[in-house]
Parts: sequence; structure tokens; C-alpha cells
Amino acid sequence: MNIIVSKTLFIGKNLIFLKSVPSTNDYAKQLLSNSKPKNGSVILAENQTAGRGQHGNAWNTEKGKNITCSIILDTSAIEVKQQFILNKIIAIAVRNTIRDFVLDTSARVSIKWSNDILVNQKKIAGILIENTVQGNYLQNSIVGIGININQLYFDKNLNATSLYIENKSEILIESILIKLLENIESWYLKIQLEQYINSEYLKHLFWLNESRTFLYKDNVIVAKIIGTNEFGQLLLEHEADILSINQKEIQYIIQ
Ligand code: BTN
Repeated sequence: MNIIVSKTLFIGKNLIFLKSVPSTNDYAKQLLSNSKPKNGSVILAENQTAGRGQHGNAWNTEKGKNITCSIILDTSAIEVKQQFILNKIIAIAVRNTIRDFVLDTSARVSIKWSNDILVNQKKIAGILIENTVQGNYLQNSIVGIGININQLYFDKNLNATSLYIENKSEILIESILIKLLENIESWYLKIQLEQYINSEYLKHLFWLNESRTFLYKDNVIVAKIIGTNEFGQLLLEHEADILSINQKEIQYIIQ
């Protein structure tokens, strides 16, 4: 990894680069319990041997080909009940970063609720946010981000893609990392702008206002995503009802 020069104020100023680690999120958790890492500290790994995804899934990536990093953020200004705003800004920042690097300007780069990033319906990035809480407020958040950059082959079941697959050419990982840190900082500094964040999130939300097929509580249903609520639940219009959906309750049926 070359030296990274980003134009940020604080994100990535303390950058810990690891050749190999089980999980950058776990490493960040250790740091937080043993020391007082600076706001915006970034842990970046060339290789993760036990990367973690959402819902207890594994996040497996090829060594040296992708971004696997965790950012430690002071989130003590965010109320626990408003914590979904953090998912939104990170998803927007990652999405916008990827948009900048996909050469085909007509490709659709979207946010699949709650925070998967897709290029033309295929997953290119995942986000795992883990918070510590103090009273009614968050304290710190570990924002784990995995972006598929130069990896060519993925397990078929994953329906995954990478920048290399999309662009048919390799990209310097550092250039994406620099942009990613800048975008995250810029959105983190906008965290008070709730309406703007909501509208940006909705603008890129996958399948918004489209009649689509889902698997919901073991039933195949045709329904329409109409947004998310303040608790981060997905709002789905189904016949005469508006369903509020939690993580794991729904599967998108992508043909
Ligand atoms: C998901 O889509 O399931 C979330 C994937 C998050 C993966 C990243 S890679 C860096 C960080 N460290 C981890 O162990 N996981 C996150």
C-alpha cells in the first residue's frame, strides 16, 4: 500500500495498515477497549482471514484485491433512536464513491436497503456498522466497509461484482480509498441535515416505487418499497397495507 494523501480534516489521519488480520472491525473494537483512538482512525487490511458481514455472515475476499477497512467514529451526538441516520450517510458516501469509479455512466449504482451497494443489481460493497451506546446516545461506531475492487471471481450465489468486472480494467485501490474517506468525512459533517440525507438516500434506494416480488415471512408477495422510517425499517406498500419490515424478514427476488 502506498502512502495515502487525502484532503480530509480527520478521517484517515490516523491510518493503521495491517498485512493480515481476522477482521478490521474486531481490531477496531480491541483498539476502542484498550485505548482512546482518535476520531476518524482507519484500520485498513490487505487481507482479512475472518471478515464479518451482516446477520452473522462471513465476508470473504481475495487478499490484496479489495478495500476492507473500518473507520472509528465519534457518534456521541447521535441519539440511539436516530442511529439509522449513520447507516444512511455511510451508504450514500460509499455509493457516491463507487459511482465516481464506474466508467459506464448509464450503470445504475444503488443502495439496497439497508446498506448494500449494487451496480446494476449486483453487490459491489457491504457495510457493517457496530455501535457502542451510553444512555440514550451512541458513543462510538465502528464502520466496516468492504468494496470489491480488483477481484474477478466470486461465488455464483453471491450475485457480486467488482470495479474490475464492471470497467474491464484494474484500478489502484488507494485512489478509491482516498475518495471514500473524503466522502465519508463530508457526509459525517452533514449529519444534522436530516432532510437532505433522507432525500439523497431515497434517490438511490434500489426498487423505490416499483412493484416488485419479495419473499416476506415465507410468502412470495408483490409489493412496492415506499421508503424507510425513522427506526430504519423498510416501508413496503402491499395491497391496502403499509408493512414495516425488519432486517432478515425480507428477501428481494431479483430475476
Ligand atoms: C455485509 O454486506 O454483509 C457487510 C460486509 C462488511 C465487510 C467489512 S470488510 C471490513 C470490515 N471488517 C469486517 O470484518 N467486516 C467489515
